[in-house]
Amino acid sequence: MTAAIRIRRATLADLDALLALERRAFTTDHLSRRQYHKHLHSPTAAVLAAVDASGLLGKAVIFFRGNSSIARLYSIAVADAARGRGLGETLLKAAEHAARKRGCVSLRLEVRQDNAGAIRLYERLGFRRFAARAGYYEDGADAWRYEKTIGDSA
Ligand SMILES: CC(C)(COP(=O)(O)OP(=O)(O)OC[C@H]1O[C@@H](n2cnc3c(N)ncnc32)[C@H](O)[C@@H]1OP(=O)(O)O)[C@@H](O)C(=O)NCCC(=O)NCCS
Repeated sequence: MTAAIRIRRATLADLDALLALERRAFTTDHLSRRQYHKHLHSPTAAVLAAVDASGLLGKAVIFFRGNSSIARLYSIAVADAARGRGLGETLLKAAEHAARKRGCVSLRLEVRQDNAGAIRLYERLGFRRFAARAGYYEDGADAWRYEKTIGDSA
């Protein structure tokens, strides 16, 4: 990854760029402006932004639950032009770090069964497939569920 890219918490000022990336990266199940607005202010969510001087290059959305040590990676995406350079891996590690900091011991996610690139990324970083969810996505596509034990060190 290029040194000029940094990962930080997203703010309201990132909203338009987050929505544009969301629309380009996913064909279904888009997070809406209203949902992003809510998550940006929510104590049970973390929205991470990967940025360089040109703007937003990637994002990850993580959800927490008060009574659970399992965090959920709801969404991760990297802009087309920035893919294949390790930014997805960096964002995923940042999501793990954010979950660890919240005291979570594992991170779970769903991925479309036909999303080979994302599945390779998750498996390379140690996520383990543990279940399927039929018809999970708006267009009826099935999901795999993945989990990684992330430990409790900061
Ligand atoms: C999935 C996604 C986040 C991956 O982002 P990315 O930044 O391309 O991820 P990485 O660069 O870490 O890894 C992608 C590939 O680049 C390779 N790569 C990483 N750094 C590299 C480098 N410096 N030189 C050459 N190749 C490199 C990786 O090995 C990997 O190869 P593989 O696909 O053959 O396994 C991105 O493709 C995306 O946004 N997709 C659309 C949204 C999506 O599907 N999200 C997941 C929903 S569950």
